[in-house]
Formats: sequence, C-alpha cells, structure tokens
Amino acid sequence: MEGSVRLGIVGGAGWLGGAIAGAVLAAGLVKVQNLTLSYRRTKPERLAGAFWTDDNQALADRCDVILLSVRPEDWSSLILDADGRLVISVMAGIRLCELCDKHATSRAVRALPNAAAEAARSYTPWIASRETTDADRAIVRAIFTACGVEDEVGSEREIDYLTGLTGSGPAFPALLANAMMRDAVAFGLSPQVAQRAVNTVLVGAGRLLELRDTSPVETVEAFLDYRGTTAAAIETMREAGFDEAVARGLAAAFNKSIAMGQGQAQETEI
Ligand SMILES: NC(=O)c1ccc[n+]([C@@H]2O[C@H](COP(=O)([O-])OP(=O)(O)OC[C@H]3O[C@@H](n4cnc5c(N)ncnc54)[C@H](OP(=O)(O)O)[C@@H]3O)[C@@H](O)[C@H]2O)c1
Repeated sequence: MEGSVRLGIVGGAGWLGGAIAGAVLAAGLVKVQNLTLSYRRTKPERLAGAFWTDDNQALADRCDVILLSVRPEDWSSLILDADGRLVISVMAGIRLCELCDKHATSRAVRALPNAAAEAARSYTPWIASRETTDADRAIVRAIFTACGVEDEVGSEREIDYLTGLTGSGPAFPALLANAMMRDAVAFGLSPQVAQRAVNTVLVGAGRLLELRDTSPVETVEAFLDYRGTTAAAIETMREAGFDEAVARGLAAAFNKSIAMGQGQAQETEI
C-alpha cells in the first residue's frame, strides 16, 4: 500500500485537511504526486508538489480514496459523484447513509480526528458502512495511524459522543490551562512565567502518559493517597463541581454533534 494510494482531500486548504495531508505524506503512505487537494477561494502556496484544484469532480476522478474535510454547513452545496469509490468523511455530524446517498457510493467511512493530527497525535474513532471492504479498512487504518491512534467503533452514536470527547483535541486541556493561568496571574505571577509554567505542566503530563500508559484514575488516586497539596486542590475542585461541569460540557457537545447532522440520533443500517 505504501505510496500507492491515490488520495484526494476536499477542503485540503483547511485546518484539518491540511494536517491530514501533511501526516500521510510524512508517513510515506501517499506520494506527493498521488495527492490531490481542493480549495474553494484561494490556492495555498504549501504542498506545491501535490495537484491542487478548485474542481471537486476533477479531484474525485483522479483518486481512489476521497476524504471530505469541509465544514458541515458547506457540505450540502458540495457536488461530487464518487462513483463507487471509498469516501471518508471527517465532518462532524454527517451520517454514513447521507454520505452514501449524496456521493453515489456504498463504501463510506465516518471518522473524527482532531487537530493533533498536525503532530501525528490525533485520536481518531471511525465507523464504516457495511459494504466497505477489508482493503478499504486497511487504508482507513493506515491514514489515521499516520495521524496518531485510531479505533474502529461499533456505532455512529459513539462517534457523536467522541466528537465532543476527543474531536475537540487540545481544547479541554487548554481550558484547564487557561483557568490555571488566570489564577496564577491574579496571584501576581507575570503572564510569561505563568504561561511557561502551565504549558510545561501540560506537555509533561502528556509525555508521562505516553511513557507510562497509566489510566487517569490511577494518577488521581495516587495524588489523593499522597495527602499533600494536590489532594487538597483535587478535593476542593471536585466539591466545587468539577466532574459535573465536565459531564455537562460533554453532553452539550454530544447534542450539538447530533444537531449538526440530520437532527436525529437513530442508527441507520447501511
Ligand atoms: N479542526 C478540527 O480540530 C476538527 C476536528 C474534528 C473534525 N473536524 C471537521 O473537519 C472539517 C474541516 O474542519 P476545519 O477545522 O479544517 O475547517 P476549515 O479550516 O474551515 O477548513 C475547511 C476548508 O474547506 C474549504 N471548502 C469549503 N467548501 C469547499 C468546497 N466546495 N470545495 C473545496 N474546499 C471547500 C474551505 O475553503 P475556504 O476557506 O475558501 O472557505 C476551507 O479551506 C469539519 O467538517 C469539521 O467538523 C475538524
């Protein structure tokens, strides 16, 4: 498979489409001459060796695998006949049956990477339509392994949930870091020192997780058992509603993910 996949990314000029393009090239999965990227308004300067076009049907006709990475609200006006090819969508909320209907294929995949694809550290859950072949699944795994870690999941409902949990990528750690920084600056630390301190804690936490592969439950328990300053902070944060605030936020993301599609949460067997 290495280098031989002819991949087209609709919305390749965007944030996530560009990150996936960079990841598959860096992994050697796609040769630059086999990569087609479409843009809407302005042709980007980057990835000059790839074939850029503003004609999405021309993209589809040059490729075996078509990855859709436009915003959900732009998808309805997108005209693209995939003619039985493998279509992979990374769009939040758009369901498998809608992808198959609109793009004239029975081989569709709904995936939900995140912005960490740019650093090959995305978590990507995905689900495939029934007629998707084993060879298609191998390509999907290879694309999202190039972007980080992937899992084939059992239902579209799980994708809707994970859209909030992992699709947000760095947003929730950044939210915690933002609150920590604001507190540090209010305490009197300079913004520069506060930012270096907080960012280093985040990076260190991520590196330790990769090194040890422990569960967050074990990490929190270890700090609680230590009975030090961290335990005092964790207990106070929890009393103030930390866990409940996270659960309510994730529920809001789940509901929004469903609303972005057809406004229905039911599964469609295809
Ligand atoms: N960013 C993330 O972290 C993330 C995470 C999970 C899922 N997603 C999903 O990924 C998709 C893309 O998100 P994004 O953050 O990368 O958005 P983005 O940066 O706005 O990129 C979307 C790109 O699509 C282009 N586009 C729109 N209509 C087009 C058309 N008909 N033909 C060709 N290009 C077209 C836009 O071009 P113009 O700039 O010219 O309008 C833009 O460059 C969304 O559906 C989103 O739900 C994103």
